[in-house]
Amino acid sequence: METKILKTTENDINTAGEIIRAGGLVAFPTETVYGLGASAFDAAAAKKIYAAKGRPSDNPLIVHVCGVEQISEVAREIPADARRVMDAFMPGPVTIILKRNDIIPNTVTAGLDTVAIRCPDNDTARRFIKAAGVPVAAPSANLSGKPSPTKAEHVIKDMIGRIDAVICGGSCEVGVESTIVDFSSDVPVILRPGAVTRTDLEKIGVHALNDANILKEVSPDDVPKCPGTKYKHYAPDAQVIVVEGEKEAVQSKIKELLQECKGKITGVLAMYGAEYDDAVILSAGESNREYARNLFAALREFDELGADIVFAEFCERDGYGAAVKNRLYKAASHNVIHV
Ligand code: TXA
Ligand code: MG
Repeated sequence: METKILKTTENDINTAGEIIRAGGLVAFPTETVYGLGASAFDAAAAKKIYAAKGRPSDNPLIVHVCGVEQISEVAREIPADARRVMDAFMPGPVTIILKRNDIIPNTVTAGLDTVAIRCPDNDTARRFIKAAGVPVAAPSANLSGKPSPTKAEHVIKDMIGRIDAVICGGSCEVGVESTIVDFSSDVPVILRPGAVTRTDLEKIGVHALNDANILKEVSPDDVPKCPGTKYKHYAPDAQVIVVEGEKEAVQSKIKELLQECKGKITGVLAMYGAEYDDAVILSAGESNREYARNLFAALREFDELGADIVFAEFCERDGYGAAVKNRLYKAASHNVIHV
């Protein structure tokens, strides 16, 4: 299949919308990561997403809308807490889980009675959904198991020849996927941490619990609430080891570990800006906010460079800390050294 490379011109956005209406697949930028979209009303089109990504079919898709008013088309009821989140944070990097309407096919929700809904805070994304004329079901536009794409070139690398088109819209501002909050039972539960934090939710009177699976290793036999959490995600080819703590201790530990890696191609994902011998150093930025923006691109770059082992400096510092930690621990298969 030939993959069209599109820009953000009106003409190209209309072309993308037509592809969706005709049952095709289009990758598009959002403020979090690039998504791989199909019509949320078209079971056959949604099925193609799973095939293109190599995604297990029991992992449901997020339905993207171009405005909050579209949410009542796909959800059966909107609880008061969900409404608060919609008012305060949508459009934005948050996904809400609600009881679904029958209009959404089982292929999109993987047979669940709920649907995940998100309104992205990215102009191109919303213009594209509007041009499609239907809500757009979309997971992240990476091959299953690879880090989520934060630049068009990542999407092209993973998806060229597998999808109908990519809208190239620059780098993603947030860099990690949306916060997912489940409103389908009595108490709201954060299934995946992101840029909208638990504290942000508290501030608008939404008292959410953290799902137990956020920071632990999930066995393939578990049945987590968020099906995606049981799969090995965000994994680069290199082995990743997180070294967590304050500057001096982290740096001296990594120097010591590098000594034991002679003959291997090593990398350091640095937030403290150290000089290390014999290692490729990529900057994660100093704040966790910058870390979020740089993380997935850096993991992909270490792979391009052929790194065998990557040491990631980490310390939880700001509201983005929980989201970065969750992705980093997964990339490291929970191989974490606390110093
Ligand atoms: O920022 C984002 O959310 C990006 C952009 C493209 O919008 N999308 C994204 O989609 O990260 P994906 O498919 O990579 O992750 C969606 C997660 C999966 O772990 C899936 O299991 C979970 O959301 N999910 C989807 N529908 C669900 C539902 N009804 N109940 C529980 N979890 C659900
Ligand atoms: Mg994903």
